[in-house]
Amino acid sequence: MSRKKGAQDAWYEAGLAHVWLPYAQMKTARAPLPVARTHGSRIVLADGRELIDGIASWWTACHGYNHPHIRQAVERQLALMPHVMFGGLVHEQALTLARRLAALLPGDLSRVFFSESGSVAVEIAMKMAVQFWVNQGVPKRKRFVTFRGGYHGDTTGAMAVSDPGVGMHARFRGLLPEHHVVELPQDDATAATFGRCLERHADELAGIIVEPLVQGAGGMRFHPESVLRRLREAADRYQLILIFDEIFTGFGRTGSLFACEAAGVLPDIITLSKALTGGTLPLAVTIARDKVFDAFWSDEPSAALPHGPTFMANALACAAANASLDLFEREPRLRQVADIALALERGLAPCRGRPGVKDVRVKGAIGVVELERIDDLEGLRARFVAEGVFVRPFGSIVYLTPAFTIGVDELATLTNAVVNVLRRGG
Ligand SMILES: Cc1ncc(COP(=O)(O)O)c(C=O)c1O
Repeated sequence: MSRKKGAQDAWYEAGLAHVWLPYAQMKTARAPLPVARTHGSRIVLADGRELIDGIASWWTACHGYNHPHIRQAVERQLALMPHVMFGGLVHEQALTLARRLAALLPGDLSRVFFSESGSVAVEIAMKMAVQFWVNQGVPKRKRFVTFRGGYHGDTTGAMAVSDPGVGMHARFRGLLPEHHVVELPQDDATAATFGRCLERHADELAGIIVEPLVQGAGGMRFHPESVLRRLREAADRYQLILIFDEIFTGFGRTGSLFACEAAGVLPDIITLSKALTGGTLPLAVTIARDKVFDAFWSDEPSAALPHGPTFMANALACAAANASLDLFEREPRLRQVADIALALERGLAPCRGRPGVKDVRVKGAIGVVELERIDDLEGLRARFVAEGVFVRPFGSIVYLTPAFTIGVDELATLTNAVVNVLRRGG
């Protein structure tokens, strides 16, 4: 379909000169695609072309775009009260959401702190872990053990606990506090290195932070549940706060509602965001177990957690999250994820063993084709658009993380596009 000239072009050209795009070298980056609207698993471009979405907007839109149940909940809330500060005031949507999240999560993960983005939720988790110790008269424990391939966000603290390569933070050395980055303890050798790190540094460590089961932005790398059990044992042995960053894995993406559930491992703090509002509004939560919360329970004002984002617990976002939880309750989302896993296995199988393909792997609604390398990332992305799909490879990874509601034919179009584009040369 040809591109219609008109109002879209005026806003696009005039506005583009004033935005700074994420992760982009602005001088050489290809022009971004102007989007007019979305529906289901479709992105409708300003020129009328419709792309099948393989990424669900950075893994957020788990029910597809514009789900009527979420839209109605947000519209109702908008008429009542879009936002009210959370200092000294509370509202039904936030308290209901906190209660529901506590009921959904395992064990006593039950005290919910709201924020507006994943990175900030991680910052808050780190502050909780450090102050857990400070409040008990141990001010020295301020470092974290983190893992190669890990990614926890782009704010300063979150960047500091990400893999230096993945978080692209080598250039910020000097600004960031230094933590201990080791390989995930997956075998005897890596377990021994991990053990030595804890042994040597235990008295300065506040905790361990990990993306459980899948390291997302670090290359969609999967690890077995046994790794998480090892982390729990180590955290117990050295009295460390174990933080599971489930910002990517939370809400069904790996096949169970939460990765910690699948592993049968209870972290001390969990972070959630992304699919929390079904991809409609920014919201994140940091949820602590009783033992963490209890360390802040005091007559001493300085023992309180010094954090309070202006838009925390935004009422529209909480309404969207409550509506999203309704959908998880009412609709067979985890069965849909299992069906997607099978379709991804089948659909991506032709990539296996092809020249230049290093690995093909699937976990839940995550399908990955890892290549030896990608020379022209932007060119590859454009070739997917030409096939009528939105897929956004990074590093040496081509991956699909569709909405759980994607149609069978739409998913087949996505996997065929991956197979075809890579057959013609990644
Ligand atoms: C595991 C994980 N943690 C934290 C973040 C940061 O979230 P946000 O981009 O909302 O700040 C991300 C984002 O991709 C993530 O995947």
